[in-house]
Amino acid sequence: MPVPGPGYSITIRVDAPPSAGVAGDLTSAVGRAGGVITAFDVVDSHTDSVVIDITCNALSADHARDITDAVGALDGVHVRKVSDRTFLVHLGGKIEISAKVALRNRDDLSRAYTPGVARICQAIADNPEDARRLTIKRNTVAVVTDGSAVLGLGNIGPAAALPVMEGKAALFKKFAGVDAWPVCLDTQDTEEIIRTVELIACVYGGINLEDIAAPRCFEIERRLREKLDIPVFHDDQHGTAIVVVAALRNALRVVGKSMAEAKIVVCGVGAAGSAIIRLLLQRSPADIIAVDVDGIVHGGRGDTDANLRWVASNTNRDGRTGRLHDALVGADVFIGVSAPNLFGAEQVATMADKAIVFALANPDPEIDPLEAQKHAAVVATGRSDYPNQINNVLAFPGVFRGLLDAQAHSITDAMLLAAADAIADVVDGDKLNPSFIVPSVFDAAVAPAVAEAVRKVAGSQ
Ligand SMILES: NC(=O)c1ccc[n+]([C@@H]2O[C@H](COP(=O)([O-])OP(=O)(O)OC[C@H]3O[C@@H](n4cnc5c(N)ncnc54)[C@H](O)[C@@H]3O)[C@@H](O)[C@H]2O)c1
Repeated sequence: MPVPGPGYSITIRVDAPPSAGVAGDLTSAVGRAGGVITAFDVVDSHTDSVVIDITCNALSADHARDITDAVGALDGVHVRKVSDRTFLVHLGGKIEISAKVALRNRDDLSRAYTPGVARICQAIADNPEDARRLTIKRNTVAVVTDGSAVLGLGNIGPAAALPVMEGKAALFKKFAGVDAWPVCLDTQDTEEIIRTVELIACVYGGINLEDIAAPRCFEIERRLREKLDIPVFHDDQHGTAIVVVAALRNALRVVGKSMAEAKIVVCGVGAAGSAIIRLLLQRSPADIIAVDVDGIVHGGRGDTDANLRWVASNTNRDGRTGRLHDALVGADVFIGVSAPNLFGAEQVATMADKAIVFALANPDPEIDPLEAQKHAAVVATGRSDYPNQINNVLAFPGVFRGLLDAQAHSITDAMLLAAADAIADVVDGDKLNPSFIVPSVFDAAVAPAVAEAVRKVAGSQ
C-alpha cells in the first residue's frame, strides 16, 4: 500500500564509467529496487569517469539502504556518499528570529533599546494591556509540549519533540504570519507543566499545547484555560476535531445525507477522539458510538476515567455493547483516531449504504483506504499520498490568526465550529466530489477564511 515518498528521499553520489548506457543502468537499478527517481544530475565529468547524483524517494531507511546497495553493486560503480535530504533540511533547526527594526546607528539603538525602551517598559508597567500593542505578545504563540505523545513515536521526551515543534512554528508563520516558538518542557508532571506555562504566559497571545498524552492533556488544558487570560488550544484535540467536522459536513453533502440522520462510530477516545465527539455532539447527529481498545463505550463498563464516563453518558443512545465490528453494523460514518489495521472491506460492507470512512490513524490507518473504497462512498485518511487528507494544518494557523487579531482572551466551541464551517465552505459546490471533501493544505484561501470566521465570533462575544 505505501508508496515511496519525499519523507525518505536520498541523494546517492556515485562515480561511474562514462559509457553511453550508464544512465540506463543506474536508473534501472533504482527502479528494480523499488525507488522512485526524482532527479538525475551529472555533477562532474572526466575522461575515464563521471560523477552522478541520483535523487530518489524510498519507503523507509532500510529501503533507502537496499536502493544504495543495488546501485553500488553495478559494475564499475562506486558509491561515494549518500545524503538523507530530510536530515539536511533539519541541519541547525528550521526557524530563526529576525529583527523587525533597523539597528544602523546610535539613534536607532537609542530608540529600539536603551535608553528609549525604558519608556515603553514604564508604559506597560502603568498599563499592562499595552503589552499587546507594544511587544511581540500581539502576534506570538507558545507551542508547548512535554514530549509525551509525539506523532506516532510516543513518549520520546522534550528534546526529541523539538523538530516537530519547530515544524509547527514554521507552519504558523508560513500559513498565517503567526510568530510561534517551541517551548519543550523537561517534565511530565501535570502540576509542573501548568505552573510553568502560567509563569511564561505573559509573553504570549496564545498557547498551543502539542503532543501531550491523554488523559493528562485534558486537565492541563482545562486548568490553563481557567488560569490564563489568553486562549489555550490543544491542537491534537481541537485542530483535529475542527477538520473532521469540516470534512464530515462536506462528505455528508456528497452522499446526500444530513447530520441529523447520521449514525457515527468514533474509534479512539483519546485526545483526538474525545474532542471530535464533543464537537460533533454540538451538531446533533442521530447518534455517536464511541469505541476504544476495550470495545464500545457504554455506561455499564465501569470506567473510572472522567473523560470516558462523560463520553458514556453523552453517546450510545441505545446502550449498545460489543467490539468495533459490532458498532460498524448499520453505521453511516466511521471516524478512526485509534490504531492501524482494525478492520477490512467485509466490515465496511456491513455499514449503511453510501458509508463514509475516515481512517485517520497515522502513519497506518484503521483500514487500508483501497479496501475501504470497495464499499464506502467517501474515504479520507491522515496521509498526504491519498485524496482527502485530514490535516490539522487546515485549522490551527487560521484559528490563532483570528484569535490574535481579535485579542481574544479565550477560545470557545462556537469559534471551533465557525472554523470548521469556514474550511468546509472553501470547497465550492462545483468542486465537491468523493475525492475532494477538504481543501488542499496549500490552498491560500483557507487560513484567511478560518481567521475571519474566528475573528467574527470572538468579536461578538
Ligand atoms: N489529522 C489526523 O489525521 C490525526 C489527528 C490526530 C490524531 N491522529 C491519529 O489518531 C491516532 C490517535 O491519536 P490520539 O492522540 O487521540 O491518541 P491517544 O493515545 O490519546 O488515543 C488513542 C485511542 O485509541 C484507542 N485504541 C487503541 N488501540 C485500539 C484498538 N485496537 N481498537 C480500538 N481503539 C483503540 C485507545 O483506547 C485510545 O482511546 C494516532 O494514530 C494519531 O496519529 C490523526
